[in-house]
Amino acid sequence: MEVVIVKDAKAGGELIADGIAGLLRRKPDALLGVATGSTPLPIYDALTARVRAGSVDASRARIAQLDEYVGLPAGHPESYRSTVLRQVVEPLGLSADQFMGPDGSAEDVQAACEAYDKALAEAGGVDLQILGIGTDGHIGFNEPCSSLASRTRIKTLTEQTRVDNARFFDDIEQVPHHVITQGIGTILEARHLVLLATGEGKAEAVAQTVEGPVAALVPASALQLHPHATVVVDEAAASKLKLADYFRHTFANKPAWQGI
Ligand code: GLP
Repeated sequence: MEVVIVKDAKAGGELIADGIAGLLRRKPDALLGVATGSTPLPIYDALTARVRAGSVDASRARIAQLDEYVGLPAGHPESYRSTVLRQVVEPLGLSADQFMGPDGSAEDVQAACEAYDKALAEAGGVDLQILGIGTDGHIGFNEPCSSLASRTRIKTLTEQTRVDNARFFDDIEQVPHHVITQGIGTILEARHLVLLATGEGKAEAVAQTVEGPVAALVPASALQLHPHATVVVDEAAASKLKLADYFRHTFANKPAWQGI
């Protein structure tokens, strides 16, 4: 696992956008897995700026959703489908047919989950998966004690996650209890995992993810099992890392051609 400590969220967004730009130069039709939440927005802004400036061609990129609420009406502005269309697909100038996600309004949720895992595999697998992290260490919506081998499935949110996400809704009663999320096993199949965490509130979860044991209690710790995982953190989110100086030293001395 590579840990990169950056000055702030904007610098993290720029670094990861550079990584994505490099991927799109090597593989123009790369399948990019995207996360929602506030944290990844600087990545999408930086990538959009590169596309608009003409330094990267994302016209053949494909976008895959990480997770989704269950039961929000189609087109609800806070469904993750609407969110990803608004924050990623439209700004990059892509069309809806370059985008895939699980169907959170399906009658048969289990079938929708299985269909999504199948669709990801048939699309050739995710090349680079962007991840955020919940304050309880969740990735996607894999809450603590999710199986590290889990596949895309329905999950029940913890109250802490509902409270954390209530800011996107008028009140907490509107936050769904159920979600569909790519499983941890599904996420681990992506070729490159890039987790961005910013702010003091994520420091404990980051420390447990990076320096704690691999444990279902901290779902993001599964990144330790992946051969190409990059954790990008700002100074505040890095504040509880024991090896922070080592991570800084390693990145400062990394050959520039390697990228992330
Ligand atoms: C939700 C999403 C996660 C995201 C998390 C943290 O739970 N399902 O993918 O990482 O929120 O969001 P934020 O970045 O806003 O803290």
